[in-house]
Amino acid sequence: MTAGIDDIAVYIPKLFLDATDFANARGMDPKKLEKGLGVSKMAIVDTNQDPACLASNACLRLMKKNKLSPEDIGRLYIATESALDESKAMNSYVIGMLEQVYGDGSFGHCGGIECKFACVSGSYALYDNANWIRAGEAENKSAIVIVSDIAKYELGSSGEYTQGAGAIAMLLNDNPRLLQFDPKVTSTSIRNEYDFYRPLGRETPIVHGQYSNLLYLIQVKNALELYKQKALSTGLIKPKEGETFLDYIDFLNMHLPYSTMGKKALAYLLRHEWRELPRWKSIIEKIGMEEPNPKNPIGTIESVLSDTEFMGKDHEFTKKFTQTEEFQEFYDSRLASSLIASKMIGNLYTASLYLGFRSCLEFEFQKGSDLAGKRFGFGSYGSGSSAMIFSGVIQPAYKEIVSDMNIESEVGQRVKLSLEDYEALHENKRSFNDSILNSKHEFVIVDIENKPESKGERRYAYTN
Ligand code: COA
Repeated sequence: MTAGIDDIAVYIPKLFLDATDFANARGMDPKKLEKGLGVSKMAIVDTNQDPACLASNACLRLMKKNKLSPEDIGRLYIATESALDESKAMNSYVIGMLEQVYGDGSFGHCGGIECKFACVSGSYALYDNANWIRAGEAENKSAIVIVSDIAKYELGSSGEYTQGAGAIAMLLNDNPRLLQFDPKVTSTSIRNEYDFYRPLGRETPIVHGQYSNLLYLIQVKNALELYKQKALSTGLIKPKEGETFLDYIDFLNMHLPYSTMGKKALAYLLRHEWRELPRWKSIIEKIGMEEPNPKNPIGTIESVLSDTEFMGKDHEFTKKFTQTEEFQEFYDSRLASSLIASKMIGNLYTASLYLGFRSCLEFEFQKGSDLAGKRFGFGSYGSGSSAMIFSGVIQPAYKEIVSDMNIESEVGQRVKLSLEDYEALHENKRSFNDSILNSKHEFVIVDIENKPESKGERRYAYTN
């Protein structure tokens, strides 16, 4: 039995913070954000929206676009790291909102849970729902997986310039028009880490930024190594002499906490994969230096990061490697299109990888690439920490879906925030009913209870 993504819908809040305004206000060089991190705009939520609203708006778009009724949906999963409650799943809020449109009780048959593992949980939710379909449990119904988050970091922290917000809803079935998952190759890595975490009661995470960057790379590499073994042993990919399995991944989509992280990850993964290949000799000649090694090659991440001589040389080596035509060719043809939307919107945590997928489809289609039959590889990472690698093949009917994609018009007219308004929103100085925008045709919060017996109960409405 096959399974995959049939369609995908995006909802991005309309307020945004301009990266240059932000950099100027914080006394930073705007080029660091624009070029160094690949951030030009960060989507910011208004007071009257929360991650459940974002999720419901994305889901409603997906359902309307595909003329789906609740009866067509067997499971609805939500992956988020912006939970509203320690116990009540975000699904229930979302079902409540959708039932305002489709009728009370209309989703009563539809199971689902909220999934958590930082930014990787959406990939686990996709995998579990794909397996529900493959197992023949779906009985002609589809599954919807929604990834929804508000990436909010402390004011003045180094994470503050990698914020964003939004949700993506994905429709899964056994005859997908967009992408069919490759069977028996999905691979994971996991270990107990504190690179990024948000203790109970905190609105913003505790982050060890450079540690999390390196851990992301290591965990993704570990999962990719397992993927490689599976792809070779199942015969999914059959590289010839001097080739690597990565030569057979036509497009790569990576988790994007900021857009240049995709390039960083590609450089790291290619270095590890190409090192053993004949092509490496000429690449090293072009780079003009040998690959550096840390003083303690089997040391901890901390020991590697504190080995400043190695870190400096490794940085220099990576920069030179990314300037070689071999890297540039791979980057331009297989990764670059997936990074465009992230630059315009910012970090979406669980949804970042799927915004990258969405971006790749739209901008490759605009370039005139024929995507049918092309293999997409996905590199998913969640702090704490776990990585997941999986792949799928674009289906012949994909043009039906992709030809309509236009991220700018889907986001709609955006409103630039002043630094003052941004900070007031960030510090929760405005209440939910004091929104900056007048929302139209979307779900918003209309009440949050404060009485002890009903504290935290949220009410939502669809605005006309
Ligand atoms: N012009 C152009 N580029 C510049 C620049 C300038 N004036 N100043 C710095 N840069 C570049 C740096 O060279 C670096 O690029 P490189 O890594 O390719 O060399 C990039 O901008 C970032 O600079 P860096 O000093 O590493 O940034 P930082 O220490 O301020 O923070 C993060 C970066 C990502 C660690 C921080 O934003 C963070 O903690 N984010 C949240 C956690 C996260 O996203 N982790 C990722 C894995 S999940």
